[in-house]
Amino acid sequence: MPQTLTIRRPDDWHLHFRDGATMEAVVPHTARQFARAIVMPNLSPPVTTSALAREYRDRINAAVPAGVDFTPLMTAYLTDETVPADLATGYVEGVLTAAKLYPAGATTNSAHGVTDVANIEHVLEKMAEIGMPLCVHGEVTHAEIDIFDREAVFIDRVLAPLVQRLPELKVIFEHITTRQAVEFVDGSGPNIAATITPQHLHINRNAILVGGIRPHMFCLPVAKREEHRLALRKAATGGSAKYFLGTDSAPHHRHAKESDCGCAGIFNAPFALESYVTVFDEEHALDRFEAFASLNGPAFYSLPVNEETVTLEKVSVEVPDEVDGGEARIVPFHAGETLSWRLAS
Ligand code: DOR
Ligand code: ZN
Repeated sequence: MPQTLTIRRPDDWHLHFRDGATMEAVVPHTARQFARAIVMPNLSPPVTTSALAREYRDRINAAVPAGVDFTPLMTAYLTDETVPADLATGYVEGVLTAAKLYPAGATTNSAHGVTDVANIEHVLEKMAEIGMPLCVHGEVTHAEIDIFDREAVFIDRVLAPLVQRLPELKVIFEHITTRQAVEFVDGSGPNIAATITPQHLHINRNAILVGGIRPHMFCLPVAKREEHRLALRKAATGGSAKYFLGTDSAPHHRHAKESDCGCAGIFNAPFALESYVTVFDEEHALDRFEAFASLNGPAFYSLPVNEETVTLEKVSVEVPDEVDGGEARIVPFHAGETLSWRLAS
């Protein structure tokens, strides 16, 4: 009998579904594993209002395979023009679960993002007042700041002052990639949490550049040095309730990645749980996987935990070289590798 691990059904607290045929191709991968997912709003054009979020939610629901229980949790994309009352209405009505801060220009489809957090102070005050969480892409965008330093500089220049000004605001520091981010989250109060992706637990920056340039290992924030990966593994598996699962699964078609200006994003949805549980196994922390995957996120978002369970088994699974992505094929994270755990059907 293979070793097994049964946990409450997990949620993905950060991912990208896109829209149209791509969305229809990728939603089933997430719905297979997760009960809920926080869906990023960086479509083109972005999901900036409650009304747009409602329409997008309906399109996602239509792409969930029949008989599968999956709930998308929607976010609104903050801009310099966001109307606080619209966010509040969307939150109270249950259309919106959180709002997303993209510093303008930080990543894919972020051109309409916030140019200076000072411009949305009244929005953030409203969110703090009603308990609406803020999801943060934590990188500065200034040309003079080295791309490997952008997260650490964001903490000093933007996040730490923001948390000090609005301590009651619930902030999710998303897809953290550095020791500095772990230190910041550990040293902050209970309103500050972080998500960690599978790729940042598995790879350091060598994976992108050694032996040739590997566009399918490129995402933002970009993977950092090994010391940072080790800090992230310690944070994820260390038992702190401040860290939870957020894949940042970000599908881009093969040709858009293998390009002279390849897109940022790693499509990890097909084997996300398998990827994470491998890390917890390697760190001898399987007993802490359920909290990271299924308990800490709902607790931070003040949502109920899922009642159903999933079982993972220590049986190897082969990750295909590419998968269907709607209009074109997509290369998944771990393509061509064999993982040592799989989700039992
Ligand atoms: O690598 C990334 N891809 N990072 C992001 O922040 C956005 C995402 C995307 O939408 O492709
Ligand atoms: Zn993302």
